Amino acid sequence: MPLWVYIASLLVVCVCVYLWVLERRARSKFAGIPTYPLLPFIGNVHQVLGDGKQVFQHMDRISRICDDNMSPFVVWLGPCSILVTHDPDDVKSITNAFVEKPYYYSFGRIWLGDGLVTAPGVVWKHNIKKLAGTFTSSVVDGYLEIFNAQAHRLVENLKTEVGKGPFDVIHKYLAYTTLETICQTALGVSMISESIVTTEYYDAFNRCLELIIMRAMNVLVHPDCIYRLTPAYREMVKCVEVLHNVSDTVMKKRKQEQKDTKKSKAENNNNGKASAAKFKAFLDILLELHETDATLTEQQVRSEVDTIIVGGQETVASTLFYTMLMLGSKPRVQDKMYAELRSIFGDSSSPISKEDLSRMVYCEAIINETLRLYPPVPGVLRYADRDLPLKSYTIPKGTAIAINSWGAGRSERVWGPDAKEYRPERWLEDQGPGQPGAFLAFSYGRRACIGKKYAMALLKTVLAHCVRELEFVSDPSNLELKVDIALRAVAGNLIQVKLRERK
Ligand code: HEM
Repeated sequence: MPLWVYIASLLVVCVCVYLWVLERRARSKFAGIPTYPLLPFIGNVHQVLGDGKQVFQHMDRISRICDDNMSPFVVWLGPCSILVTHDPDDVKSITNAFVEKPYYYSFGRIWLGDGLVTAPGVVWKHNIKKLAGTFTSSVVDGYLEIFNAQAHRLVENLKTEVGKGPFDVIHKYLAYTTLETICQTALGVSMISESIVTTEYYDAFNRCLELIIMRAMNVLVHPDCIYRLTPAYREMVKCVEVLHNVSDTVMKKRKQEQKDTKKSKAENNNNGKASAAKFKAFLDILLELHETDATLTEQQVRSEVDTIIVGGQETVASTLFYTMLMLGSKPRVQDKMYAELRSIFGDSSSPISKEDLSRMVYCEAIINETLRLYPPVPGVLRYADRDLPLKSYTIPKGTAIAINSWGAGRSERVWGPDAKEYRPERWLEDQGPGQPGAFLAFSYGRRACIGKKYAMALLKTVLAHCVRELEFVSDPSNLELKVDIALRAVAGNLIQVKLRERK
């Protein structure tokens, strides 16, 4: 055998031994924490990667292991560890300690730039100070007219399904309704008839999400240098161009309108009239900030607006879907919700006001209960940029941490033996539900959702319009779930609607 074969073999053996030593050292830091059986070098890659249905099954299984052992769980993707936890105390410590996210989030940057969700920790810390207060109650109140108009239109569309079989409510109606609502409030087209969401925009939006998910599920295209060589990357660039063109065009128009309004305000200053406009688009708020703060560049404004649209669209559509599914299979809950609406509105189909929203207490409990059992974002990730000692172990620097909202919502340790039962009343009981850090649908601590008030107002408005006019019927036993970053139903034809008979 030639000498070079000996030398090459020796080198390969040395590299393997070196990697093995590194691996042993890394794994020893998680000694005692449950994991799946490991293979050398690849760890659990062969077990945990698969399609969305398999990812869901692993998430559910790992949640149960964590609950049974009162412990986190560690998954090894080669040399990289992902620590999975839903322990409320650990979640509180982790979300307050770490604002950095692992590299997976960078897959969205081509579209969302350094917007809040995808920004590196240092950029996020700077921007959140300006943006945390943007969705205040008074800003959200200004959106109610749009919410009501969109909800009314949705009900009219759903009425066309009356008397037919189960239909795909999310893809046929909810996805479009939420995208249009969020675009109108984020970008500021207050005229309901002035649609921003063209078919081209809608298709590009959905395709971008799909491409990001496809990349996340395929480790081979995680490195940027490889991904850029693929047809998927070229398609992504084209779709992003369509989406950015819309944001750019609206931004330019809006900037000009703001200038004109300022000018005419200055001219009319003498008549002392206060502006009646309550509606303030998210883009308007950002453009005002951009005028006084040079660090908020136009590109950053666009990234934040695009982020809001992505952050709010599927999450709200899915919550509506799961809520309709639950109402349809729990006539007692649906009747109780209808009774609450009757006590507020009587026979009237009037638009919903902010006072009405605050009286819809049972409806809010229904939404929370749905989000507890079906969190549209079933987990979020953080990156440990230093060691963090917790009550029973230390998270070593360099670990990716998966905070498991699915597991948290279904934990019997936290929610009691009826944890898996859909029971909105638990949110209205004296002692209150669960404990802080156990309801993670909107995440927790730093980098939690800033759109919660917006989401609750929109969800309540849409559900109130629907349940006043329609009755949902469903069979959730046919619900099969998958995790494609978001928690999604595998097939959608699960819900039917009937016209409500006013009692
Ligand atoms: C039921 C509806 C919603 C759910 C379940 C939800 C859930 C979440 C979750 C889990 C996160 C944390 C993401 C992470 O750490 O990776 C998040 C962040 C965020 N959400 Fe929501 N969201 C909802 C609605 C909305 C809406 C309507 C908006 C905007 C109008 C919005 C805007 C955002 C933004 C900007 C962030 C990033 C916050 C930051 O990093 O500082 N969300 N959301």
